[in-house]
Amino acid sequence: MSKVLVLNGPNLGRLGRRQPDIYGHTTHAELAELCRQWGAELGLDVEVRQTNHEGELLDWLNEAADAAVPIVLNAAAWTHYSWAIFDACAQLTAPLVEVHISDPSQRPEEFRHTSVVTPHAAQVIAGQGIDGYRQALEALAAAD
Ligand code: DQA
Repeated sequence: MSKVLVLNGPNLGRLGRRQPDIYGHTTHAELAELCRQWGAELGLDVEVRQTNHEGELLDWLNEAADAAVPIVLNAAAWTHYSWAIFDACAQLTAPLVEVHISDPSQRPEEFRHTSVVTPHAAQVIAGQGIDGYRQALEALAAAD
């Protein structure tokens, strides 16, 4: 089975409790289980990780670049300003799908309207809730 890494950035560990009106009621543990199940149905071996530490996400992206592993990335707030994540995504060697649970482009805060990930993404899926992760895995399975 082809390996896929689902990488979630800051504050996504509190999914289910964090602003459920925006991000829904599914917890990160439930999301991780769903991603593994969706992956298995698509013939993908999915590993889900979440971190609140930017350097850890950079290490994971570097690891994925070395191993040419496709990525589903929700860099959360780092999406909007981390040039280190821009550089890490630039050197990826397998496809990257950018996911956001909400649609940052439709949210009132100006800072959410920029993404450092999008220039490197094969596809961007936003505003689809948790199902966006399933759609991203489907896209990677189709590209496999
Ligand atoms: C998010 C959107 C970002 O603007 C925000 O900072 C997040 C989550 C999303 O999944 O909708 O933390 O990436």
